[in-house]
Amino acid sequence: MAIRRIIKIGDETLSKKCRPVTDFNARLATLLDDMAETLHEANGVGLAAPQVGILKRAVVIDVGEGIIELINPKIVSSSEETTNDYEGCLSVPEKWGYVERPQTVTVKAEDRSGNPFELTGEGLLARAICHELDHLDGHLFTEKVSEYVDLSET
Ligand code: NI
Repeated sequence: MAIRRIIKIGDETLSKKCRPVTDFNARLATLLDDMAETLHEANGVGLAAPQVGILKRAVVIDVGEGIIELINPKIVSSSEETTNDYEGCLSVPEKWGYVERPQTVTVKAEDRSGNPFELTGEGLLARAICHELDHLDGHLFTEKVSEYVDLSET
């Protein structure tokens, strides 16, 4: 495993649409292992492949319950109920802002071997899923922030 460099806001890589993963091979496994290590080293909640320069539809999420890998994820349902909470992004250092997200989302994805599965997340996990999937379409949370918060004052 290896730590990969996290691309920061301003780099056009982050605004590109990612391609589906079609080869579930050792290269993908290495990418996912590296993304997990990079995420943990940075104390983040989620990391999408484009943030390490790979324009493929793969994300890793860890809300404190272990790594979740989502390959070719698609949100299949989201609750009408939303939460408005602050979030940040490893590609947007030292910025946190309020974003409205669904309270619950269900996502269809594949695992690293290509096996399909469904996952329902609530609260922080739902927020992380939405945030990371936005990365795969070239969107950053900064496009959706209603208000920035200054966490350095607390
Ligand atoms: Ni992010």
